[in-house]
Amino acid sequence: MIWWFTLLAALALLPALLGTFYPYFFQDCVYIYRAVGFGIRLIKYSKKTPFYSIVDCFLDAVKKHPKKAFVHFEGKTFTYLDVERQSNKVANALRSVAALKEGDTVALFIGNEPCFMWTWLGLAKLGCPAALLNFNIRSRSLLHCFSCCGANVLIAAADLRDAVEEILPALKEKGITVYLLSDEQSANGIHSINQKIAEASDEPLSPSLRSNVRIRTTALYIYTSGTTGLPKAAYVTHERVWAASFIQGVCGATSEDIFYLNLPLYHSAGFLIGLAGSIERGNTIVLKRKFSASQFWDDCRKHNITVMQYIGETMRYLCNTPKKENDRDHKVKIAIGNGVRPDIWKEFHNRFGRIYVRELYAATEGNVGFINYTDKVGVIGRINILSKVLFPFALIKFDIEKDEPVRNSQGLCIPAGKDEVGLLVGKITKHTPFVGYAGNKQQTDKKRLSDVFVKGDLYFNSGDLLRIDHQNFVYFQDRVGDTFRWKGENVATTEVGDILGMVDCIDEANVYGVKVEGHEGRIGMAAVTLKEGREFDCVNTCSVLANYLPVYARPRFIRIQNSMEITGTFKMKKVKLVEEGFDPAQIQDPLYFLDLTQKKYIPLTQEIFNSITSQDIKL
Ligand SMILES: *[C@@H]1O[C@H](CO)[C@@H](O)[C@H](O)[C@H]1NC(C)=O
Ligand SMILES: *[C@@H]1O[C@H](CO)[C@@H](O)[C@H](O)[C@H]1NC(C)=O
Repeated sequence: MIWWFTLLAALALLPALLGTFYPYFFQDCVYIYRAVGFGIRLIKYSKKTPFYSIVDCFLDAVKKHPKKAFVHFEGKTFTYLDVERQSNKVANALRSVAALKEGDTVALFIGNEPCFMWTWLGLAKLGCPAALLNFNIRSRSLLHCFSCCGANVLIAAADLRDAVEEILPALKEKGITVYLLSDEQSANGIHSINQKIAEASDEPLSPSLRSNVRIRTTALYIYTSGTTGLPKAAYVTHERVWAASFIQGVCGATSEDIFYLNLPLYHSAGFLIGLAGSIERGNTIVLKRKFSASQFWDDCRKHNITVMQYIGETMRYLCNTPKKENDRDHKVKIAIGNGVRPDIWKEFHNRFGRIYVRELYAATEGNVGFINYTDKVGVIGRINILSKVLFPFALIKFDIEKDEPVRNSQGLCIPAGKDEVGLLVGKITKHTPFVGYAGNKQQTDKKRLSDVFVKGDLYFNSGDLLRIDHQNFVYFQDRVGDTFRWKGENVATTEVGDILGMVDCIDEANVYGVKVEGHEGRIGMAAVTLKEGREFDCVNTCSVLANYLPVYARPRFIRIQNSMEITGTFKMKKVKLVEEGFDPAQIQDPLYFLDLTQKKYIPLTQEIFNSITSQDIKL
């Protein structure tokens, strides 16, 4: 906690910095003032015995305004007290049927609905960390994600029964208990638990049940598709939950606000900034099962929404909807998120009116973060005295072709200059830890970079390329290596490559993301070689991918190559393939396009290519 004190000391230096930071001095001050306020609170919480967690904050909010709406969902409203009681029921039921006790990890496999919230709260009241499974994943990926968090209990929503049944034999073999939030009869070793919850007492749970929780205890496991392989379970400590929950406040949200939560609750953005943030503020959430551009503004008007959350695609989808007369008739004043492009933001602004966009940058497991708190378009954040004290970070020169940092003759990295693109690395210290991934030492080690500026030092490798300009504004440039982002989800190319390797006709696969006109991020593409004497199997390839990967991760384009180009370090060459993209006029190799309605790959003709670039074909 010393780092928060350090920053207080740093504050004393502020006047001296006035000159340097001149035009943004006021905004820097407001931001620093708010951040320091939260820092002091975190110190207080960490000193309280027992530790004051986000659950205790929720309980205080219930005391303060039991009748206030906590969440609106599909026409129903649940007050703080409703959610409190419901979570008590869940906790009491689970205590008796599953004998859950403090420290037992439980995996949650539930879509965006209120029961996600109270089931998690119930677990938190028992001191049980929850692993938040992505409800889009199936079979092998699902099993992998479940296994790596070390849970012995899986709680799933009724509508995900099929996905659970698919992996049930493997779960049973491991002795995992499966509870379904359903009224149906228990069958095949899946226990329906709704009846038990309905009958359970709604009496509050004794805080002594979670008396060993500390600030650095794991509160959650959140999955991230890091640079390689299958998704990984990042440890999220209570400290991290608190820090992320303060973001709403730092962005100016208050207890009066109505927060529109349309991002998945299994991601940090939706869960930590949205749900935990609203608990911290004591405001009201309007929860959506999923984002809908056509319902967006009607929802905002109906519920008087004042704060919205976005990813880059959100703004674009909203701008793509037909213009309406009442486009500016809403009360939204703050938008919190990341990934909006400057051109889209300007268009968004012109059309929907003055909304303060608070762009931020942070990785679930990372130890650095930025937030855009000024009125400069296109930046993801700003370096000030506070950020340097909070997160010792650096941008270092990066060789994209070799896919590794540039090192000098002594084997050390070289800092990127002002206005130069570099790889973001965050120094790993006691106060800026990188705890890594559950059950995956190898991947944890991979994200650590040593010998950066002096022999033996240790940094967290963010995998992101950033640029900092002369005025200390931070710009996001790209991701490096083996991930790309599509529809707001990270896709790990090696995971997709592994699955393609399971397809009969395919010998080798090289997966990457390509840019498409009019879309954020990159869409999946694979260059593959075929086994001797085999043809490309358009139907089977599609069905194998559909079995193992969520839609956003399946390569929409396939390029058949005679041989694969390999780099000096035996990595597959990607840069050239990425640049060449998927234009049949430019590429001699056979190209295929994944037609989701026909459930097969079809040859990518110039006509299809044109329809994609003109956005007649929706991706
Ligand atoms: C939204 O605000 C208007 C005017 O301030 C008010 O009349 C209306 O009842 C509010 N709607 C909801 C759902 O709170
Ligand atoms: C940063 O915030 C300001 C003020 O709300 C906004 O005008 C600007 O577009 C934002 N930048 C980005 C990239 O969102």
